[in-house]
Amino acid sequence: MSVDLASRLSSVAPSATLAMAAEAAKLTARGVKVYAFSVGEPDFPTPSHVVEAANKALVDGATRYTAVTGTPDLKAAIVEATRRDRGYTITPDRITVSCGAKHVLFNLATALYEPGDEVIIPAPYWVSYPEQVRMMGATPVIVETTEESGFRMAPDELANAVTPRTKALILCTPSNPTGSAYDEASLAALFEVAAKGSYYVIVDEIYADLVYGGFKLASAGKVGQALGDRLVVVDGVSKTYAMTGWRIGWSISSPALAKALSVIQGQSTTNPAAVSQAAARAALLGPRASVESMRSAFERRRDIMVDGLNALGLACRKPEGAFYAFADVSSLYGLKVKQNDKEKVLETDDDVAMWLLAEAHVATVAGAPFGAPGYLRLSYATSDDDIRAGLASIGAAISKGAR
Ligand SMILES: Cc1ncc(COP(=O)(O)O)c(C=O)c1O
Repeated sequence: MSVDLASRLSSVAPSATLAMAAEAAKLTARGVKVYAFSVGEPDFPTPSHVVEAANKALVDGATRYTAVTGTPDLKAAIVEATRRDRGYTITPDRITVSCGAKHVLFNLATALYEPGDEVIIPAPYWVSYPEQVRMMGATPVIVETTEESGFRMAPDELANAVTPRTKALILCTPSNPTGSAYDEASLAALFEVAAKGSYYVIVDEIYADLVYGGFKLASAGKVGQALGDRLVVVDGVSKTYAMTGWRIGWSISSPALAKALSVIQGQSTTNPAAVSQAAARAALLGPRASVESMRSAFERRRDIMVDGLNALGLACRKPEGAFYAFADVSSLYGLKVKQNDKEKVLETDDDVAMWLLAEAHVATVAGAPFGAPGYLRLSYATSDDDIRAGLASIGAAISKGAR
């Protein structure tokens, strides 16, 4: 006889992005070449100077517990990088370093949300935001945004979603999954609404260094000064520095919230790995050439991916940042296709994603788990050649379908 799991898990969905990666891995294990447009991590290795700094740190003894919320050295590097890259000055007592930005967000959820609370999340959203809210017994309040508005939440949409129970608003800029981002005017307009409220504003800036075409991304910490202690910025090294496996992210919050996060972390994971903290410091303070060369590669790939999708009739706006294209695939609905030798009519984004994996060997993620049925998320964090070949394979699969 099995013993029941905690009821808090009953309404929580597993990560859709990780599920697709697992399906694709099964095909790869059978020797099939899969075009990996489902991944959420840079395909580049961590820059060599970072790896060398980590090696040296290990030799020098970075093998022990550190201060729970990060070493003074890493916090000093975050202060410097925040000034340099985000344009505002912070003190170390506002920083909490955790095991990746996802862990930061989970700790924030633990510290802030409880049953009865509402958390406003614009859709399309990153899959973990509503699930973390649900895990705490709180209620995600999803606000639809449209492609026409660049998937950005308008000030009146925020105002209409606020209730006396609103505990937080979560924004992601540039966004996973749409790549949309807020410039200063659009973020300031939202913050003007938020300034009148009494809820936290959590801004996930994990993709902030990956913006293209000269887009001027608003820095929440700079634009949101009037929000005072209600503003929380989430950041990390995973995406900018190709360091997903090192697991370092951080929040910038009020000192009081940072203390609460320290209590949660002190009773759960304790500090993030000592060697990873040393590596993150080297990334933040080291040479910038590798950051720019990865960013410019993503910009080139964005254009190949987005132009290619539009040429196939899969409408896709050109995103300002991150490394995802978000394509409207509803034009494929009604197409009669063969999938694993069986006839099938495509009716949902999930149908399209599963068919593309089986027949075109292209791994994508369906839009529904991001709160956007009818769309597919296609990551371009893969080689130019694979993007071109994967697009050709999608085109060939579509042309075999019938109306
Ligand atoms: C929007 C967003 N926030 C946070 C994260 C988590 O990043 P980390 O590797 O720092 O946990 C991701 C990773 O996919 C993400 O897309």
